[in-house]
Amino acid sequence: MSIDSNPDWWRQAAVYQIYPRSFADGNGDGIGDLVGIVSRVPYLAELGIDAVWLSPFYPSALADGGYDVDDYCDVDPRIGTLAQFDQLVAVLHGAGIRVIVDIVPNHSGSGHRWFQEALAAPPGSAARARYIFRDGLGPDRAQPPSDWLATFGGPAWEPVGDGQFYLHMFDPAQPDWNWDNPEVRAEFRRVLRFWADRGVDGFRVDVANLLAKDLSADPLPSARELSQIAAGPDHPFADRDEVHDIYADWRQVFDSYDPPRTAVAEAWVDDPARRARYASPAGLGQAFNFDLLLAGFDAAQFRQVIEANLALAAAAGSSSTWVLSNHDVIRHASRYGLPDAPDEASRRELWRRWLLGGGREPGEDTAAGLARATAATLLIMALPGSVYLYQGEELGLREVADLPDAARQDPTFRRSPGVDVGRDGARVPLPWTADGPSFGFGAGPAHLPQSAWFAGHAAAVEAADPDSTLNLYRRALATRRSLLRRADVSRAELVWEDSPAGALHFRRGPWRCLVNFAAEAGLALPAGDLVVWSAAGDGGRQLPPGAAAWVVG
Ligand code: GLC
Ligand code: CA
Repeated sequence: MSIDSNPDWWRQAAVYQIYPRSFADGNGDGIGDLVGIVSRVPYLAELGIDAVWLSPFYPSALADGGYDVDDYCDVDPRIGTLAQFDQLVAVLHGAGIRVIVDIVPNHSGSGHRWFQEALAAPPGSAARARYIFRDGLGPDRAQPPSDWLATFGGPAWEPVGDGQFYLHMFDPAQPDWNWDNPEVRAEFRRVLRFWADRGVDGFRVDVANLLAKDLSADPLPSARELSQIAAGPDHPFADRDEVHDIYADWRQVFDSYDPPRTAVAEAWVDDPARRARYASPAGLGQAFNFDLLLAGFDAAQFRQVIEANLALAAAAGSSSTWVLSNHDVIRHASRYGLPDAPDEASRRELWRRWLLGGGREPGEDTAAGLARATAATLLIMALPGSVYLYQGEELGLREVADLPDAARQDPTFRRSPGVDVGRDGARVPLPWTADGPSFGFGAGPAHLPQSAWFAGHAAAVEAADPDSTLNLYRRALATRRSLLRRADVSRAELVWEDSPAGALHFRRGPWRCLVNFAAEAGLALPAGDLVVWSAAGDGGRQLPPGAAAWVVG
């Protein structure tokens, strides 16, 4: 098999996110690498995904897991070489799997040569104009230009010792680019071409909503005032309208290739109509819908999110994305094993406290969590649109909530002491075998410690068990792929069928998906072939709570 030339491949794709440092370690130094990924391409092919998205593998000081990029056109020597990257693309394409790379355009790493030049150059220089430098306030210019806080905690302005400060929305090692600067714009067009020329099929665009900034107000609004300004044209940096000029420009680059390169925006934008603008065909073309990351395992919430996002994607001329886990959130097998909370804010608060306490309180119902997680996965795989799967979810991995503090790497942990432990628990290297120094991840210990229970989730263990999560994912992805080839499925609209409270039932032509979220009496399955089922046995065609099934007929 190899990839075809269908320009619309992304609309219904199953995309698998690889966090390269934690996927497979080819040389035993504890860090995942490109050679490791190449060795696992047969596994990816057997899983049945259409594309992989590689989180950053570029040279980086790893101040933020590689989202601090020091050189956008190279591979970190700990992860591999450009020649190995080319080989990886060739092997993936040979297996019929497309490649999406992560572009981080809001900020570079502080080791980027242009940032180093800026630090060495005087205030007001052309080198400083590529980033966002401002004079400090007060008689000796020792006060930051505003009291804004960075996402990972601490101030958003960092002094450089000559009366100026630079802006960083994330870690101090992630200086924000100045997108008003034509050199920055030209540089990113070059970066996109560099990877597109190497055969990359698409781009995931990191924090796509923060690039355009207007910091001309004098004085700048205080943090308190800032929190009152809605994201959009009046906000100094969140979701400003001009950000779409950047993506219109990128679209010309994408469309100069055959087939056109695709892109998906990571844009945490609350207003759904404004979020849809990132998915415009004249811009990036698709945008992440993260609504399910924050929803409870609840029929009404899922239905609302599904209806809203299908409508938005249709209005934007795009297709929706469905995501239950990624490298920034608690794995969904754990989220669904914790008690639910009444709304998004209290849910987040519960998760934060749970991680802070090392995962002890409240207790996690691991069996229910995994059952609900796989049911939710079957549901999103049956929806129109593309699904983004995060490495390890197909093994039923849960969050590692009890990492020792000394092992933590996420900058959030040190920059928000006692408040937020960070995201390392979703980034622990994968178990491939039940034994070995890092459960087959590599020949030595892994860069983040794996839990003892990883042994039971190892890919080799799961592959041998017909009822494992891995084999459920394989069956579901294979079935999905063959159903999507049928015209009576691919042309059909989603239709909701009646279902009891606590359950959902929809169909696309003959393909029905039923999910029992909470109906204790069970959910009776309709006539037809039971093609995929997430619970053990067939239960006499009664779907228990926390289970999903696909029926065709
Ligand atoms: C995105 C990434 C996250 C990173 C942040 C800053 O949200 O997904 O991992 O920390 O951007 O680049
Ligand atoms: Ca390695």
